[in-house]
Amino acid sequence: MVKTILKDGVYSVGVVDWNIRDFHGYITNRGTSYNAYLVQDEKTALIDTVKAPFVGELVNNISEIINIEKLDYIIVNHVEMDHSSALPIIAKLAKNAKILSTQRGKEELIKHYGHDFDKIKTVKSGEEIKLGKKTLKFLEAPMLHWPDSMFTYIVEDKILLSNDAFGQHFANSHQFDDEVDNHVLMEEAAKYYANILMLFAPLIIKKINEVIAMGIPIDIIAPSHGIIWRKNVMQIIQAYTDWSNGATTEDKVVIVFDTMWESTNKMARAIAAGICSQCIEAKILKLRSSNNTEAVTEVLKSKAVLAGSPTINNGIFPTMASFMTYITGLNPKGKLWGFFGSYGWGGGAVENLVEMAKKADFDVYEPTLEIKWVPDESELKKCFEFGQQFAQKIKA
Ligand code: FEO
Repeated sequence: MVKTILKDGVYSVGVVDWNIRDFHGYITNRGTSYNAYLVQDEKTALIDTVKAPFVGELVNNISEIINIEKLDYIIVNHVEMDHSSALPIIAKLAKNAKILSTQRGKEELIKHYGHDFDKIKTVKSGEEIKLGKKTLKFLEAPMLHWPDSMFTYIVEDKILLSNDAFGQHFANSHQFDDEVDNHVLMEEAAKYYANILMLFAPLIIKKINEVIAMGIPIDIIAPSHGIIWRKNVMQIIQAYTDWSNGATTEDKVVIVFDTMWESTNKMARAIAAGICSQCIEAKILKLRSSNNTEAVTEVLKSKAVLAGSPTINNGIFPTMASFMTYITGLNPKGKLWGFFGSYGWGGGAVENLVEMAKKADFDVYEPTLEIKWVPDESELKKCFEFGQQFAQKIKA
């Protein structure tokens, strides 16, 4: 990546990972980036590092600006290895730099990289360091995305370095939001929120309110993945607020299912027709054609979800079991959940899906719908009516 200037003395020095397609199970069709920032004044600070295989590129980017040995500070906003696994090497090269993190960050760094990190300094919310004219102010942000997480705010430049929050897995040769397609950017931001942060919705609302109450002006939000927000700062803050509140949920049903011999597929299509007959949008998403990453993004954007599975070995089809495990962990709030499926000589899938949903405290729609073997014409009519009734429940 060619280094980019955010404001005078503030550089983006991270790297683009164009070809990653599986980020610990998150399918990253557009790759990602590991953003790191260099703030140069009388003293110089590096905020975050990158994933270890890219350390050479990070060193080159820093070296275009300063001699890395002259780094005064390394700020660790987050310990997850996509941002810190280059740190041990950078710390050795920048041998005079003080390393700063939260207390939880220090504990995690020691567990990840050993006792060389015993001596690092910890910071708390509200603490500041002066680099010269520029001031770095720290704001702890636990669970956004790990217990160690924090934001670093460059006071005079009004830049919030938010690490994972407001990021996207979106590799691009451009770095700013006014240089890329806004629709694609928001799609990737939603996917990132759904897959990485949805579970922490209450904490996100709390943190956004805390930042608003602090009254700190923000010109730029520079996350640790993807595109930097400078034109649409309010758009992404509003989107996070809405996603966390469930406020932007569209009047739409997503039907997530899988099928063995097309019976559950036929049910899904008939149910969707019933939903659409009530002027509610329905989107059908078959697992194995799509993946969990896309499916949970559609769940985020939908008011209700219908999950369908054939019975196999008295239980849930494996892809649907995987989806339910993933989505119950992410714990989306405020959705209505319905269930359907086909079976041969004995059921089990739908019952098990409902059990998982109830255990996760989801709002479960009853009745469920099960069809034996291949649905005939009258059974497809039942599916259509099931879709109609489900849609009416949403309208109500
Ligand atoms: Fe991008 Fe939680 O690491």
